[in-house]
Amino acid sequence: MTGGKPKVVVLGGIYVDMAIRCEDFPDSAELVPGSEFSHIPTGSGINQAIQAALCGCQVTLVGKVGNDPFGQMAIDNLRDFGINCDFIFEAEAKNTGVTLSFVNSAGSNRTVVSEGANRALTPSDISGAKFEELISNANICLVNGKLPPDFVSAAIRAAKLSNKKVILDPALPGGEFQHQSVSLPPDYYTADILVPNFVEAAEIINPQNHNIHNAKLIGADLIARGVGCAVIKLGRRGALVIDKAGADHIPSFEVKFVDRTGCGDAFDGALAASCAVGSAKGCLTADEIRKAVKFASAAGALACSKFGSQESLPKKEEIIELLQDLP
Ligand SMILES: Nc1ncnc2c1ncn2[C@@H]1O[C@H](COP(=O)(O)OP(=O)(O)OP(=O)(O)O)[C@@H](O)[C@H]1O
Ligand SMILES: [Mg+2]
Repeated sequence: MTGGKPKVVVLGGIYVDMAIRCEDFPDSAELVPGSEFSHIPTGSGINQAIQAALCGCQVTLVGKVGNDPFGQMAIDNLRDFGINCDFIFEAEAKNTGVTLSFVNSAGSNRTVVSEGANRALTPSDISGAKFEELISNANICLVNGKLPPDFVSAAIRAAKLSNKKVILDPALPGGEFQHQSVSLPPDYYTADILVPNFVEAAEIINPQNHNIHNAKLIGADLIARGVGCAVIKLGRRGALVIDKAGADHIPSFEVKFVDRTGCGDAFDGALAASCAVGSAKGCLTADEIRKAVKFASAAGALACSKFGSQESLPKKEEIIELLQDLP
């Protein structure tokens, strides 16, 4: 990088989240009155891109929307944060990704998701000279593994060809142990930094061995499979960094917990922003990665201290202030 802001390219999901409050959930064929209705752009791509922009980076989001008002709503929202939307493609005959939720008076929700255009991303979307130029000017590429696997693999290969660092969040479906082995496509193991949460890391390596005390061993297995560095997110227990330099635990920051929505995205976006600063200097050292994970943990903690997803993403100044609380 020759001066200017660090450049981050995010490849991730784009959705509009719609929620309606009601006293009780409707039974089959029942119509119940609702109260407040809210709609807000969300998804890994939107939230992580906004988080990296809030951390002072020049951000481009690569993703896909439908030819409908929701796609435009998402793009307008990203532009408010100064995010480059030139690589948000439009799918033919697909809707923009949406989630529809009912939230009852107890705060529980029932949600349905339509992936829509997010599932229509293909390697050909990023095969041209324009994308090559985008990647060759970037300092970090942050990829979300929930996008179609052939698209994710093509993005990783393009970044590697340009000698760019890749951070990959495998973002496996679920959240609870499925007790099933997940096999990642080979390109995923070429990521410089893989950021699974503990459930995902265990499912990739050995779902029978999901004791948290084995997290370091699981991380070491990811390194043996080719990943440059594994950053395993452990919720309020913090994060583990495992690479050839060793294994280090980065404790979480104490905050008043409100809601964990968006905290993984805050972590990933802030990690990419901080690593982009290191990459811009020429090389990303093991020390810089550990510093970046501390920065990301502060962002994750702050996102847990506020309600909502996009609304809870912290600004760089708030992250720096929390980091100063460290002994
Ligand atoms: N209760 C908490 N208190 C403080 N920090 C937290 C808390 N929960 C999460 N964090 C921070 O945020 C990071 C990311 O959170 P988490 O481990 O829940 O990621 P995730 O499972 O990928 O989240 P998501 O489900 O949003 O994708 C953690 O590694 C930690 O640093
Ligand atoms: Mg996650």
